[in-house]
Amino acid sequence: MQVLRIKAIDTHPIRHKILRPHGTIEDCRFRGDDDELTFHLGAFVDNKLVSVASFYFERNEIFTEHPYQFKLRGMATLPEYQRLGLSQALLRTAFPVIKQNQCTLLWCNARVSAMGFYTKVGFKPTGEPFDVPQIGKHILMSITID
Ligand SMILES: CC(C)(COP(=O)(O)OP(=O)(O)OC[C@H]1O[C@@H](n2cnc3c(N)ncnc32)[C@H](O)[C@@H]1OP(=O)(O)O)[C@@H](O)C(=O)NCCC(=O)NCCS
Repeated sequence: MQVLRIKAIDTHPIRHKILRPHGTIEDCRFRGDDDELTFHLGAFVDNKLVSVASFYFERNEIFTEHPYQFKLRGMATLPEYQRLGLSQALLRTAFPVIKQNQCTLLWCNARVSAMGFYTKVGFKPTGEPFDVPQIGKHILMSITID
């Protein structure tokens, strides 16, 4: 398995299949995808891209003690490659990059269905779950990066 930096467009097939199966490929473009500090990581198994995650320099005002933060979006692993540690490997690769950018927090609006994963890798929930139309219940989660 290899973790590599990929382009936003490379994430689209997995975003589409796993995160926006009822959407169009347009729905797979996320705001900030091409911003200067945004980065996208992919896990490759036998040269096949099977897991993706994207990281945006974006502050959530709720976390007042962290002036510089990254937001995680578009985290997805193809079903047949789940529970092999690939998403965790993407996060481990991202942490030093986030730290290098003087940021001390990574946060996301996690699908409640994926909360088990986020909890396992060290994220903590804040507040109550909220509904995102067409996608389902989400909860704000974050992890401090020392
Ligand atoms: C959530 C998701 C991205 C996790 O990806 P993954 O590559 O399977 O995750 P990993 O294998 O790196 O998991 C790391 C650890 O969390 C555990 N884990 C993974 N999914 C879990 C879940 N749903 N509930 C509880 N624990 C989970 C793994 O078993 C592993 O534990 P271990 O270290 O003891 O083996 C993947 O299940 C997925 O694509 N789900 C559908 C899309 C989705 O919901 N994305 C999140 C949007 S917010």
